Amino acid sequence: MKKLLTALKRLAAVGAAALAVASLQPVSAAQAAPSPVIGGTRAAQGEFPFMVRLSMGCGGALYTQQIVLTAAHCVSGTGANTSITATAGVVDLQSTTGRVQVRSTYVYRAPGYNGNGKDWALIKLAQPINLPTLKIATTTQYNTGTFTVAGWGAAVEGGAQQRYLLKATVPFISDATCRAYGGSYSGLVASDEICAGYASGGVDTCQGDSGGPMFRRDSANEWVQVGIVSWGIGCARPNAPGVYSEVSTFASAIASAAASL
Ligand code: ARG
Repeated sequence: MKKLLTALKRLAAVGAAALAVASLQPVSAAQAAPSPVIGGTRAAQGEFPFMVRLSMGCGGALYTQQIVLTAAHCVSGTGANTSITATAGVVDLQSTTGRVQVRSTYVYRAPGYNGNGKDWALIKLAQPINLPTLKIATTTQYNTGTFTVAGWGAAVEGGAQQRYLLKATVPFISDATCRAYGGSYSGLVASDEICAGYASGGVDTCQGDSGGPMFRRDSANEWVQVGIVSWGIGCARPNAPGVYSEVSTFASAIASAAASL
């Protein structure tokens, strides 16, 4: 129900009838209803080398050089799948310099995924991509502070997908505070989801950023992934933060699934 509400609100906001299914649908599945990073700035070439753009209109991050971590709602299920193209190595998707494009061979969607929590998936690539990977948080210790988000999704609610990678920073919001925003937020799956953003809105991920990482520096000053772009009511609205999959909750399941691919 909460997802339906979210979907309806997004539909209304986007005004794209084709966006049939839900707020959780990746852009391409329906038709570019982009949701780029809002309130952000352009990332520098090479700044986030682990960032991946997926052809169905989602983001992702290199978990290993041959496995992309993304959102469950960006994929259709578990099994052999050669339909997805991963693009990496560039902030400008149209630049051929340094751009690496590799097809998928297999998709693993979180077991039990039903649109409520568990919003993660792995995509196995046909060949490894020789770029740095992004490690994932294995404990809850980094579920606090300020996070970086990045993606090629819409830069305004209902806007177009972006050619250049955008980035922004958003603060952690506690489960209690997030739930108190009401509506779909009251159904937050506390163990599976983390909220981030400003009560005043203005900075957020948006359609097309789904599946991309939310990350921060760890105690060794290295990037660590704490979230996966999942959903929100509209984008960057006041009192309507972004909701991200809580990566540390799934860290061991992600590791064992990856080892099996
Ligand atoms: N579900 C969206 C997508 O498929 C991501 C929405 C994120 N929304 C937000 N307000 N942070 O791209």
